[in-house]
Amino acid sequence: MEDKLKKLNEIKQSALFGGGADKIDAQHKKGKLTARERLDLLLDEGSFEEIDMFVKHQSHNYGLQNTVTLGDGVVTGFGKIEGRPVAIFSQDFTVLGGSLSASNAKKICKLMNMAMKIGIPVIGLNDSGGARIQEGVDSLGGYADIFLLNTLASGVIPQISLVLGPCAGGAVYSPAITDFIFMVKNTSYMFVTGPNVVKTVTHEDVSFDELGGAETHASKSGVAHSIFDNEVELLLAARKLMSFLPMNYLDKPATSNFDLETLKPIIKLREIVPNDPNKPYDMRNIIELIIDEDFFEIHSSYGDNLIVGFARIGGHAVGIVANQPSVLAGVLDINASVKGARFVRFCDAFNIPLVVLEDVPGFMPGTDQEWNGIIRHGAKLLFAFCEATVPKITVIIRKAYGGAYDVMNSKHVRGDFNLAWPSAEIAVMGPKGAVEIIFKKEISLAEDPEKKLTEKLNEYVEKFANPYIAAEKGFIDDVIDPAVTKIKLISALNLLTTKVDKNPKKKHSNIPL
Ligand code: HXC
Repeated sequence: MEDKLKKLNEIKQSALFGGGADKIDAQHKKGKLTARERLDLLLDEGSFEEIDMFVKHQSHNYGLQNTVTLGDGVVTGFGKIEGRPVAIFSQDFTVLGGSLSASNAKKICKLMNMAMKIGIPVIGLNDSGGARIQEGVDSLGGYADIFLLNTLASGVIPQISLVLGPCAGGAVYSPAITDFIFMVKNTSYMFVTGPNVVKTVTHEDVSFDELGGAETHASKSGVAHSIFDNEVELLLAARKLMSFLPMNYLDKPATSNFDLETLKPIIKLREIVPNDPNKPYDMRNIIELIIDEDFFEIHSSYGDNLIVGFARIGGHAVGIVANQPSVLAGVLDINASVKGARFVRFCDAFNIPLVVLEDVPGFMPGTDQEWNGIIRHGAKLLFAFCEATVPKITVIIRKAYGGAYDVMNSKHVRGDFNLAWPSAEIAVMGPKGAVEIIFKKEISLAEDPEKKLTEKLNEYVEKFANPYIAAEKGFIDDVIDPAVTKIKLISALNLLTTKVDKNPKKKHSNIPL
């Protein structure tokens, strides 16, 4: 047995070095970690249990039989993050550029199938030249097998993609189907076709980074949910993200300890909203005051007139959706609507309560928005809130105008607790626009139109720019002192832990895509 164990040990040792010392060196020189170094940082120490280390590719094309590496360019297995299990695969760029072979795809699919049966999240670490060219359709089929499982697992278990190198061609569609994509500045990129093909087809000169680097996808396309300066920061952030998520759609996110004794009115909250309703303020200042610890923001540089992210309030993991009055006055445009809708649907799929902080002047007007489909995209956010059955709480901080009032988790779309600050203004539109429409004739015929306009404006503000009419009708459950917002949110979240709500039975809904 001793000999056999020695041999086993030797085989396993050799597998740990992937494509060999030179390739590992080259990987480090690019500022990248190896597949296994990444696992060490991401997972709890000593928790990784590898499977399929002995798998080899089966191809004899183009002399591939001479390039055989144990594990075949992807490390798969199970580990723990803060004591909770995850399934994980890590593509090894040192083995044939991390390219996906049929065997390699089978390993990933085996892992995903296991993760779905067990009910645990899958984290994919992507660093690959794409389909292994020498394997042709076998490799393409392997990708399709993964896409299918990504789709079937969607909404069953959380799926996180960490893009740490190239991710090109059709390969991008696996991360794209998953719930979150994190990228690293300068070393990771994603595109359907690279700069050379772009040059041939559209005659554009564009670098790898401009076309599909982390910053491009974080700010222009919205493909990346979060980006980081280096891999270590990214991997630590992925650990943090996991702390807000449940294991699967039947599970609830873990609560953390919160000492209710420490809960006191937060007087500073009274001072954030300016007296002038047209003055901006930073909604993040409100968020920071009502959450327990750090805010884990998603899509922080995309559609930033809306803020979304995870936090804890009174120990409960929540998804926060908040208008940002300091960017475009917090208006809802296409990017903000799509970003919000995706986030709301993720939270709803995985039992994460939603807390909405509202200050929105409406949907963005203009030909650009109309022609690009603000109707279709705005409907996504509306649909997502309507469909969501998780605990849903809204606090109207200031403006709640027009269709945006309905959309932002109003009572009418099954908001559970709808609260308002005394500064709330709930109306069909802002005072000036409204008065110019309904008193058009009266103002134009007046002896002094300016004076009449001011008179009518004051009248409108007095009548509509407050939360009390909505509260009289029960559309707002309570008008609260801003200082007690956190206290009210915690008591609502506590109460809603046993909430049950359902949608009608159907094959699936037809969200406006
Ligand atoms: C086989 C590959 C490979 C691939 C890289 N390698 N990509 N082997 N299939 N797809 C190998 C290289 O031959 C090389 O082997 C090693 O990996 C490292 O690659 P380098 O080119 O030396 O590295 P680098 O300079 O960093 O460039 C990385 C790269 C480049 C930009 C990713 O390798 C590249 O352009 N690869 C092809 C990308 C691509 O077009 N893939 C197909 C996408 S289409 P040696 O032995 O020399 O070290 C696709 C379809 C999916 O994926 C469809 C799903 C529906």
